[in-house]
Amino acid sequence: MTPSARDLGHLIEADRVHGSLYSDTAIFEQELRKIWYRTWVYVGHESEIPNTGDFVMKSIGPQPIIMTRSSAGAVTLLLNRCPHRGNQVCTVPKGNARTFSCPYHNWTFANDGHLTAFAFPAGYSGQDMSKLGLGRVPRVASHRGFVFGSFAADGPSLAEHLGGAAETIDRLCDASPEGEIEITAGFLQHRVRANWKFVIENETDGYHPAFVHSSIFSVADSGIGSLYGQKSTALTRDYGNGHTEVDLRPEFRRLGRPLAWFGTTPERMAGYVARMNAARGEKKATEIMIDGAPHVMIFPNLFIAEIQIFVIQARAVDDTVQHVTALQLKGAADINRRLRQQTMGSVGPAGLLLADDSEMYERTQRGVQMRDPEWLFIGRGRHRERLDEHGYQVAHATDELPQRGIWRHYRALMEAA
Ligand code: FES
Ligand SMILES: [Fe+2]
Repeated sequence: MTPSARDLGHLIEADRVHGSLYSDTAIFEQELRKIWYRTWVYVGHESEIPNTGDFVMKSIGPQPIIMTRSSAGAVTLLLNRCPHRGNQVCTVPKGNARTFSCPYHNWTFANDGHLTAFAFPAGYSGQDMSKLGLGRVPRVASHRGFVFGSFAADGPSLAEHLGGAAETIDRLCDASPEGEIEITAGFLQHRVRANWKFVIENETDGYHPAFVHSSIFSVADSGIGSLYGQKSTALTRDYGNGHTEVDLRPEFRRLGRPLAWFGTTPERMAGYVARMNAARGEKKATEIMIDGAPHVMIFPNLFIAEIQIFVIQARAVDDTVQHVTALQLKGAADINRRLRQQTMGSVGPAGLLLADDSEMYERTQRGVQMRDPEWLFIGRGRHRERLDEHGYQVAHATDELPQRGIWRHYRALMEAA
């Protein structure tokens, strides 16, 4: 069943979605046009390219993107395709270069994409070569160092797109004594044979941890399990525009212990605590250290998971890569070491957390190929949705408010002209 481009009402209802949304290649093609190549997509972080000439390979959906710090200092997003005969210009994952030379016929491009030289130039005598540069993502914007790109030349600004969810990025950055996070720990890539929407829906699904992650909770003795229990005071929140959160702060405030969110104590992180107190004052620093870092899914592809980020790349209808790295808080060496270790333990190659989820994604992808029942039910907690003090919808930690919010925004994007 392929929907008409303008009406997904027969596939998306208030409390259920049709299984074909996860497996129909025609729908995936539409998603590329209407979501991945239109809305703001997270690409990378400014700290990955601190110096002029730095570059790193990134992506927007299946499209490889070269994120560069051009000679003028601006962050530029280039498409990795030679305007001569289409060869891939950049063949290494990262580096520093003033120019890129195409391996095929040696055309050379500045790190802002302009063509600067071409081999054996007499052959182009009298022809205007000035417009033959690398393709560029037309809109680039950043928030607190997080760089987003949009293939749409016009549309909502990044600030409009992020809306209230920008505050979650601020909350993360404020956990650093210097107010900045750095992406310097290197990336792991986890590939799953599943649709990208199963992944993003799961990131703020507080219903599954008690079951899917029961093994890690039982060995790690971390206290995380109770955050997602029936008695939890944590909330799910829908910021609109597809951005969703599991707000664990009510539970951490109930405990009232700084760094409990991170499974440690101020005594063990004395250097970090001292720098936070010096930077923010003891009262504010203590509040930040009690609240912890956010657990938020920025639509469509940036999951901030307290101590790490996942950049979700949709490659095909049933092929998704999660690019994962430990967050590093600027000016906090002691906590950064632990952030890396915990990331390896939870989502590293032998990590105990992400493997659980990946197995669920792939089993679900296989499940929705079955003929019957055709629909997935996402009605949990509809009766207990309410507005918080900022006017955002919230519900219990285990409710499917985030999934309903994601689908509402998805439908709006897919039905737009
Ligand atoms: S394809 Fe790049 S120079 Fe020919
Ligand atoms: Fe999970």
